[in-house]
Amino acid sequence: MDAILNEYKKHGVDEFYRLHSHDYENPHNDIIENLLVEAKSVWNIKGNILDLCCGSGEVSRMFKECNVEGLDPYTKELYEKNTANHCIEMTFKDIVRNGFERNYDFVICSYAMHLCEKSMLPMLLYRISEASENLIIITPHKKPNCNGKFFLERKRMKKERTSIILYEKHMTN
Ligand SMILES: C[S@@+](CC[C@H](N)C(=O)[O-])C[C@H]1O[C@@H](n2cnc3c(N)ncnc32)[C@H](O)[C@@H]1O
Repeated sequence: MDAILNEYKKHGVDEFYRLHSHDYENPHNDIIENLLVEAKSVWNIKGNILDLCCGSGEVSRMFKECNVEGLDPYTKELYEKNTANHCIEMTFKDIVRNGFERNYDFVICSYAMHLCEKSMLPMLLYRISEASENLIIITPHKKPNCNGKFFLERKRMKKERTSIILYEKHMTN
């Protein structure tokens, strides 16, 4: 974890992923896989899924029988080669500006939403809530906290330091 934080400091987050757009790999793949195997059956994750900040396909490859789309501004080529799914090229900022073009049953974001600027997070969550009733976050940090105006935490599981959290859309008014 410290190694990647040092890399972020050295290059900046965006430049780091631009540099690693062809060789990114999550070293915690086995934990992600374990958590998703359990969550998938217990939380009944299926249907149309958006793998938000999809990297090289760490989440998508666990949902081969579902209709999965990836989204990532830097890893489209790598993701499409690994999964044969389509990857939308958008940043958090693009999502906030334009929203999504379609709806999903689940949006899953693994090891990435903490990269969104704090001030932009509420608007990002609003945009996700326009497109999906369910949001799943996989994170080794306390961040991001998506509990609030647009989503409410319903369930969570933990393996070592990584949590998987299921949020449901919160209807305001
Ligand atoms: C730590 S990786 C996580 C990838 C994958 N989901 C996983 O679990 O391994 C973070 C991902 O966020 C993407 N990313 C970086 N900056 C971003 C931004 N501004 N908007 C959207 N995605 C971004 C990177 O390209 C990278 O694929």
